Amino acid sequence: REGSVTLMKLREKKERGGMRQKFWELGGSRMGDAMRVKEGENDGGERKNKGEEEEEVDYKQSLGFAAHVKKEKEAKSSEFARTKTIREQREYLPAFSVRDELLGCIRENNIVIVVGETGSGKTTQLTQYLMEEGYTEYGIVGCTQPRRVAAMSVAKRVSEEVAAMVEEHGKRDLNDEIDGLGGTVGYSIRFEDLTNEHTVIKYMTDGVLLRESLRDPDLNKYSAIIMDEAHERSLNTDILFGVLRKVAARRSDLKLIVTSATLSADVFSDFFGGVPIFRIPGRTFPVETYFSKSVQEDYVMAAVKQTLQIHFNSPPGDILIFMTGQEDIEGTCTVLAEKIENLGEDSKPLLVLPMYSQLPADLQAKIFDAAPDGVRKCIVSTNVAETSLTVDGIKYVIDSGYCKLKVYNPKIGMDALNVTPVSRANANQRSGRAGRTGPGFCFRLYTDRQFREELMETAVPEIQRTNLSNVVLLLKSLGVKNLLDFDFMDPPPEDNIMTSLYQLWILGAIDNTGDLTTLGRRMVEFPLDPPLSKMLLFAHEHGKCSSEVLIVVSMLSVPSVFFRPKGREEESDAVREKFFVPESDHLTLLNVYLRAKQYKFDAQWCTKHFIHSKGIRKAREVHAQLVDLMKQQKLDPISCGGSWDVVRKSICSAYFYNSSKIKGIGEYINMLSGIPSALHPSSALFGLGYTPDYVCYHELISTTKEYMSCVTAVEGEWLAELGPMFFSIKESYESALKRRQRERADAAKMEKEMEKKKLEEEEREREE
Ligand code: CDP
Ligand code: MG
Repeated sequence: REGSVTLMKLREKKERGGMRQKFWELGGSRMGDAMRVKEGENDGGERKNKGEEEEEVDYKQSLGFAAHVKKEKEAKSSEFARTKTIREQREYLPAFSVRDELLGCIRENNIVIVVGETGSGKTTQLTQYLMEEGYTEYGIVGCTQPRRVAAMSVAKRVSEEVAAMVEEHGKRDLNDEIDGLGGTVGYSIRFEDLTNEHTVIKYMTDGVLLRESLRDPDLNKYSAIIMDEAHERSLNTDILFGVLRKVAARRSDLKLIVTSATLSADVFSDFFGGVPIFRIPGRTFPVETYFSKSVQEDYVMAAVKQTLQIHFNSPPGDILIFMTGQEDIEGTCTVLAEKIENLGEDSKPLLVLPMYSQLPADLQAKIFDAAPDGVRKCIVSTNVAETSLTVDGIKYVIDSGYCKLKVYNPKIGMDALNVTPVSRANANQRSGRAGRTGPGFCFRLYTDRQFREELMETAVPEIQRTNLSNVVLLLKSLGVKNLLDFDFMDPPPEDNIMTSLYQLWILGAIDNTGDLTTLGRRMVEFPLDPPLSKMLLFAHEHGKCSSEVLIVVSMLSVPSVFFRPKGREEESDAVREKFFVPESDHLTLLNVYLRAKQYKFDAQWCTKHFIHSKGIRKAREVHAQLVDLMKQQKLDPISCGGSWDVVRKSICSAYFYNSSKIKGIGEYINMLSGIPSALHPSSALFGLGYTPDYVCYHELISTTKEYMSCVTAVEGEWLAELGPMFFSIKESYESALKRRQRERADAAKMEKEMEKKKLEEEEREREE
């Protein structure tokens, strides 16, 4: 039984306590280990301008790329988007050529799998076709996306398309309420809902729809749901599969469409019992793919070199570079910009644009704008541009061969974003991006051998590699009793489920028998990770400081608001130190927010104090929404005034399992694993001469060593009180005896509860 296994695992955990396994197995530079490159060898600086054919040969030689894959004849140019009307653009998409057959197929089947190359119009067109066909007359057409960025940007594009069609028909004047983004077409992502009563096409993250199913298990307000990008196999999409299969069985009026960019859609069809697969014929152009001749040591520098090569030596056409994450992307952009600038006035202009999820939305939108005449565009992106976003006019793709993947290690109960080699399927998807509007080129910054021997065939679905406590809590509240029986397309490792159950148990969200507790049921109401919702509820009930903790939680839910510009590090550090609350980084965040609030979140004040004003305003929005959610649960925020000790205790109630004990001056060791864990130099506790005996931290960052990030001093007694499964206060012989007696009594009580539950369930089964 699940319940008893939880208990068993718990015991095992206690015993194993201090052990920790190496967990970078999946990450690190598996390919990088062998990477060597001779300096200068790849420098193709002195190129001659020759004819196209010669140029290519020269190119390969100068850069060390070996030609691969087929070569076919020239086709259409990519000037399309710039010169055609929206209607013409829509009608040019491959989906349009099969529009009527597709709608016919949807009319006759409740569930359809739609397969089509990226850029064929699945995401932007399907919703509109359904609206044109009348499906929005009795409900909303919803479309889920695994990524927030995609939901926002696609909704924007579709709202423009819809408005353009209204304008073309000229039946009425455009009205911002209806035709602007957030009107007929809107989107909803965590902490940001841009929809109104007119909204009939709604893009949202898969997580948002999953949460909606908590309130409305049959999702009655939807007439059709498109589960987009199913091939991505995001955690929430995988869970939605199981949930929506049940909804579809109950609601014969619901249309469910699952889209995938890869041809292997049979698994999806099989999952729903052999539903039809509709294929949108592809229209792609040949892409010449090149592999690096030698193993590259530094993919950022290799990508920069390759970009300059293309920019100065190859015909017009935009460049798309696939990088890992924000840091590498910014690095690449900076180096590229520097190099171009150093070349002086007469160098050809290159418009370098970053693209990653934390980038402000207005900057993200820039990647879709056509560059001015004669200027080449170069987009440096995460794998969001792999299938979720399609930018027209890309002729050259540079593939670093890596991406950032969330990887969970159940042994230490932690998620980490690791730089990981992509899979062969990802690599092929990436190169395909060069051949959307004309023939293109793809440069892989890894060797042919690495591609064949070191890359996996396909990526591991997220459900099998991340922390599940959030979804476990959700599924529990959806009434899924035994998680091991849930309809998973690919079940997660049992160990992950167990660790998640265990985590929820230590937080008090589930009881000894694996059922949700009152606290757990309340926690589900907040779109937060379980420890954060626990912190909030504990603060409200026990600390009487929910006002303060609401701010802490909001600040933790947005990217860091501290701004540390290059060249002004010391200056900005000095300003930041003025906000420090010596015993806590969490309280420092609280302090920053309260000060910014005093100044009405004024942008100038923020800039002067090296604070991202957009970031802190986002925190304010999150705060407002969390307050609403609290009030909906009849919990009016309570303030503790100036005595912030209870705030620290609330933090301890949520993070007691992330605790460290002092070992020497400024040295800490993790209390559960025994690993040395250092204070980060950016911490308020660092180097101030104040070193508490015990601290809790938000997360561990592993670089050269393990750093605790976002640290708060806590009292030893709190740890014993709030995390009794791990800690107890050192006791005399007699009290040790008492403790053992108590433990034995507790264990007996647990056994009894489970026994009782088992009997009850057997009884129920017999009755049924
Ligand atoms: O979903 P799928 O990959 O099949 O294609 P899509 O995302 O619907 O893209 C269809 C077309 O819309 C492409 O030509 C995109 O370039 C264009 N699009 C755009 O111009 N701006 C956006 N924000 C999103 C898509
Ligand atoms: Mg799409």
